[in-house]
Amino acid sequence: MLKAKIIATGSYLPEKRLTNFDFEKMIDTSDDWITERTGIKERRIAEDGQSTSDLAYEASKNALRQAGLEADDLDLIIVATVTGDMIFPATACLLQNLLSAKKAAAFDINAVCSGFVYGLSVANSFIRAGTYKRILLVGAEIYSRIIDWEDRTTCILFGDGAGAVILEATDGDSGIVSTRLCSDGSLWEILTLPGGGSKYPPSEETIRKRLHFLKMNGKEIFKAAVKALQTLVDDTLKENNLKPSQLSVLILHQANLRIIQAAAARLGLPMDKVVVNIDKYGNTSAASVPIALDEVVRAGKVKEGDYILLEAFGGGLTWASALIKW
Ligand code: COA
Repeated sequence: MLKAKIIATGSYLPEKRLTNFDFEKMIDTSDDWITERTGIKERRIAEDGQSTSDLAYEASKNALRQAGLEADDLDLIIVATVTGDMIFPATACLLQNLLSAKKAAAFDINAVCSGFVYGLSVANSFIRAGTYKRILLVGAEIYSRIIDWEDRTTCILFGDGAGAVILEATDGDSGIVSTRLCSDGSLWEILTLPGGGSKYPPSEETIRKRLHFLKMNGKEIFKAAVKALQTLVDDTLKENNLKPSQLSVLILHQANLRIIQAAAARLGLPMDKVVVNIDKYGNTSAASVPIALDEVVRAGKVKEGDYILLEAFGGGLTWASALIKW
């Protein structure tokens, strides 16, 4: 049976670093507080002239180079983002233009921080159905443009970046084994950017009320994420008759080191099987999982036949997993 196989990965992080010590000079916070509560030490910030499609373009070029493919070889481009260049057109169309990928269809996915894993499921479905053979999937974000720099409870958490994969149809043994998508819209209010859409179109009032910035109830998200990830991991492993010890690599959305450590401890997985880069990049939302995947692939930490479990959670709420046999 056809399935999607990741044949190449790529990522791009802007060069500019913003450290916890830089934040100490901007708001009432400390390196100790941020490190202890989140595991973050620094994050990357896009240059003024860069937009999300530019970050996506750099990550995509790296993935195409690794695959030895040209942009014209792509049938479909999917970008997972909530910080697209504009409300429309889709950032995937702007990326298509930058790449000159003339034969591809292109659209965006909005599942906030779960967007990339949702995208893997969508790409896998297209490939299994025989609709497309080769898909570029990118997670790209510039949260530095949507966070409230005066809100110390959120601005220290996020960073900018992009990660990309190229998926190809295969009837071999390796590829995406299963995906699982979950949502709970009743919890939409605990992580949202309310302004600028049809409910609160831009006005002086929406600006005064700071509705164009991300709003988050950190404690509620924390609780919901830990609970959701527990069930998700159990269900994913059970569905595939796998024991945690059979996983070679666990890649969790990089939102908080304590959430990552709790998930690893519960599974009895040693931390050397769990990817952690939140210290360097913070939470890059839809880009966090593909950036982490690119890092482990480039470091040679995955080999043929390895099981890799990807998991993410985010606004919506949404949460999702993808089990991959490399
Ligand atoms: N620096 C210093 N103090 C800060 C601070 C900061 N940047 N941000 C908040 N505080 C203060 C609070 O005001 C509070 O002070 P108080 O006790 O005087 O009221 C205290 O620190 C504790 O805040 P609290 O919100 O209870 O901290 P926490 O342990 O829950 O950690 C988060 C806060 C945001 C780090 C944590 O809740 C979290 O990571 N949540 C999940 C967020 C997430 O994953 N979001 C993305 C989802 S995709």
